[in-house]
Amino acid sequence: MSLPYDRVYNFSAGPGVIPVPVLEEARDNMLNWKGSGVGVMEMSHRGKHYEKIAAAADADCREFFGIPDNYKVLFLQGGASLQFTMLAMNFLNGGSADYLRTGTWGEKAVSAGKLHGTVNLAHDAKGSNYDVAGYDLAQYSDDAKYVHFTMNETIQGVDFLGDPPADGRDWICDMSSCIGSRPFDVSRYAMIYAGAQKNMGPSGVALVLLREDLLERIPEGLPPMLDYKVMVENDWMYNTPNTWGAYVMSLVFRHWIDFGGLESVGKYNDEKAGHIYSAIDESGGFFKVHAQPQNRSRMNISFTLPDEDLTTKFLAESKAAGFHELKGHRSVGGCRASIYNAFPAEGCVALGGFMREFAAGRS
Ligand SMILES: Cc1ncc(COP(=O)(O)O)c(C=O)c1O
Repeated sequence: MSLPYDRVYNFSAGPGVIPVPVLEEARDNMLNWKGSGVGVMEMSHRGKHYEKIAAAADADCREFFGIPDNYKVLFLQGGASLQFTMLAMNFLNGGSADYLRTGTWGEKAVSAGKLHGTVNLAHDAKGSNYDVAGYDLAQYSDDAKYVHFTMNETIQGVDFLGDPPADGRDWICDMSSCIGSRPFDVSRYAMIYAGAQKNMGPSGVALVLLREDLLERIPEGLPPMLDYKVMVENDWMYNTPNTWGAYVMSLVFRHWIDFGGLESVGKYNDEKAGHIYSAIDESGGFFKVHAQPQNRSRMNISFTLPDEDLTTKFLAESKAAGFHELKGHRSVGGCRASIYNAFPAEGCVALGGFMREFAAGRS
C-alpha cells in the first residue's frame, strides 16, 4: 500500500483525516495567502483578506449543507463540549428540556444541561450499554424547551441515521461525528452543532447552525462569550476567532462540494462502511458490531472480537499491516474503525480483507 506523503491508514476517531488536496492548499496558503504576502494565520481577523476568507467559509458552509437563510452560521471556540453548556445557558435557563441519552457524548450533554435546568431523560439507552437510538423510543414531555440528542455517538458507533420528525419540537443536535457525511435537512432542527475535527477540519472550532427565532429566547446578562446573540451580532468575531480553523473548514466544504455534494458523499460513505460491515457479518460471529443493526454508524464502526487475547493480537497485527488507531474506547472495548469522509475507500477495502483473513480459521 502506498499513500501520498507516506501516510498510513489512519482510523483516528478525532481529530481525524483531512483530504490531502485540502492539506496541500492549506500548506501553501499558510505561507502566503493567494499572493497577498501574508499567511492565513498571520493576518488580522478584521482585515480585508480575512474578511474574504470568512465570507467564503460562511458561503461554502451554506452551499454544502443547504442551509436556509433563516439560520445563522457561527464558527465558535471551545469545541463541541462548550456547546453542551452554552446551549443550556441560552435555551434551558431554569426550564426543562428533553434529552435522548444514547452514548457517552449524550451523557456529557446531560450532565452539563443539569446545571442549568431540569433534564428529562426522554430516552436512556444506558441500560444496554448504549447500543440503540431512535426517535420513537422516547417519551417526550409537553413543556420541553427543546429536545437534545447526539446524532452519531462516536464511541459506541450508534447513529440515528436520519433527521428527526417535523413535529414542531425544537430539536437540538450534536452532529460532531457525522455532519457532512450524508444529506440532512437543516430545517428540521432548531440548532445543530459540531466540533470540526472529524469531518470538517482541525480541532478547536465548533460549527453552530442556529435558527434565527431562537435568539429571542436568550436571557439577558449571560457572559458575552457564552451568548449566541453576542456571537451573531459580531459575526462570530466578538473576540479573535479560530481564523485558521474556519479557513480550513471552508476548503473542506469546497472539496466535498466539488466531489458532488452530500448525496455523493453519502453514497461513498455507505460503500466504504459496507466493506467493513460485510467482513464482520461474514465472520460467523467472530467479529461483533456494538450497535444494533438499525443504528450502524457509517463513520465509527465499533466492534469486538471473542476475547482480550485475540483483540490484542488483532490490534498488533493490523497495525503492522498499516492500519492505525483501531483500538476501541475503553467503555466499549474491542476495536473501532473511524472512517470519516476523507478516509480513503481503498483503506476500507483493505481492512475488510485483513479482517477476513484474520477471522479465517478462527471462527
Ligand atoms: C459526538 C461528539 N460530541 C462532542 C464531542 C466533543 O468535542 P470537542 O472535543 O470538540 O469538545 C465529541 C468528540 O469526540 C464527539 O464525538
